[in-house]
Amino acid sequence: MKTLTIRRPDDWHVHLRDGAVLQAVLPHTSRDFGRAIIMPNLVPPVVTKADALAYRDRIMAALPRDHAFEPLMTLYVTETTDPDDLESAFRDGVVTAAKLYPAGATTNSQSGVRDFENAMPVFERMAAIGMPLCLHGEVTDPAIDIFDREAVFIDRVLDPLRRRLPELRIVMEHLTTRDGVDYVSGQSANLGATITTHHLIINRNAILAGGIRPHYYCLPVAKREEHRLALRKAATSGDPRFFLGTDSAPHLDPLKECACGCAGIFSATNTISCLAHVFEDEGALDRLEAFTSLNGPQFYGLPANEERITLRREDEPVVFPSKIDTADGPVTLFDPMFPIHWNVVRQAS
Ligand code: NCD
Ligand code: ZN
Repeated sequence: MKTLTIRRPDDWHVHLRDGAVLQAVLPHTSRDFGRAIIMPNLVPPVVTKADALAYRDRIMAALPRDHAFEPLMTLYVTETTDPDDLESAFRDGVVTAAKLYPAGATTNSQSGVRDFENAMPVFERMAAIGMPLCLHGEVTDPAIDIFDREAVFIDRVLDPLRRRLPELRIVMEHLTTRDGVDYVSGQSANLGATITTHHLIINRNAILAGGIRPHYYCLPVAKREEHRLALRKAATSGDPRFFLGTDSAPHLDPLKECACGCAGIFSATNTISCLAHVFEDEGALDRLEAFTSLNGPQFYGLPANEERITLRREDEPVVFPSKIDTADGPVTLFDPMFPIHWNVVRQAS
């Protein structure tokens, strides 16, 4: 197959940041994606309807004029979130979902939830109004090995929450384990899961074998090969519960290349090309559209995008920059460690 035309993709989990980084990274997402779920972990986080409105305005102000892109905003759940403000933001269409970070689980999660009991009134309200909850699914218990934190979260938090509030729509985000795939596969359709591009491509060797490579470090951290293979199977299966959330998470290079580097992989620029490569490898190019463009909208109860994009398989590898520049400094782009032949055809070319 040389060309492939699919509905315009959406990204169901992306970090656009703010200020100079927002300005620089947004066009890389808005060029290929019609919509994206915008993560609220700014400093300070997006916690109220007013915060979400203001952040959406800053995103729209940074958007290139010729890009048609809709940011789907989220609220960051804290132990003091006001359910009335959250409901009003959802009913007025200001936000699409709420995001829960266990406190301390990842980048900028200090304001997250320590005791899930304290967030129950928020979850109950969300269940009542049909508002989806996006979950960073890792426990923060220091006694739990970092490679086991997702599996333990499923047992200790996700499954009890599903039993208590079966009608709550939950997205288990950036799934990284076979345990996660198996759990989601066995549940009803109101539990969905996003999978990132990079977790389909790297396992933990990319971070640690032959030297420490900070640009492959993200959270949840990449796991063993068997888990990557389970993720590939889920993503390419066509199962509507699995959809793309790139978790493209830019950090300035000095903040990653240091003694205590930040978690996050920036992949917006070449994500669609990398995914076409993965799906071709798996003999599943005919299911790429389900993963990137159909399953997500179906879960969120939104129509699929009407526009189409065309991918072309080039004979020569497509050259992507190794870094992108921002006014605050460079951000390194995800390197899949294989030549990429698929390219999104630009109108002008
Ligand atoms: C994200 C970030 O940098 O904001 N980092 C990451 O490794 N994925 C936070 C997150 O989604 O966990
Ligand atoms: Zn993220």
